[in-house]
Amino acid sequence: MALNVDLLRSSFALVVEREPEVTHRFYDVLFAKYPQVQPLFGRRSRADQERMLRDMLVAIVDHVEEPAWLQNQLGALGSKHVGYGVTAEMYGWIGDALLTTLKEVAGDAWTPAIADTWAQAYGAVAGLMQAKP
Ligand code: HEM
Repeated sequence: MALNVDLLRSSFALVVEREPEVTHRFYDVLFAKYPQVQPLFGRRSRADQERMLRDMLVAIVDHVEEPAWLQNQLGALGSKHVGYGVTAEMYGWIGDALLTTLKEVAGDAWTPAIADTWAQAYGAVAGLMQAKP
């Protein structure tokens, strides 16, 4: 089924409006639920990491209808993640932490359709990051 791009964008805008520091909250949720990934982080300051993740999420949502952009950018990002020690299993943990955070921030605006849209988008992103070049 085609991704509901309008719903992805409107729900992301709502989340960022309700919580501009959404990626700060994301790392709190991630490290609370999956403390085993914490040792992988630390090359950069937490503030830098939060900013880079936020900028990347904004860029993905902006370019979500451009397959060539997604393939190039996410392929390169995925290769860097191999170097960080990220495994396939961890993509599931990050997806869980991301959806949990978005749901928490969206609050009463969260719907099953938004959950499905984000699960589908995250799955596609994770797939492109792990695609063999
Ligand atoms: C949708 C999936 C993901 C996105 C969009 C994403 C995004 C990013 C970005 C933008 C950076 C920093 C920039 C860079 O290295 O070029 C980064 C670094 C990193 N990411 Fe991810 N990431 C994803 C999945 C994961 C997963 C599954 C893990 C597993 C725990 C992970 C762990 C890390 C680590 C350890 C770093 C380096 C941290 C440091 O330097 O201290 N990421 N990620």
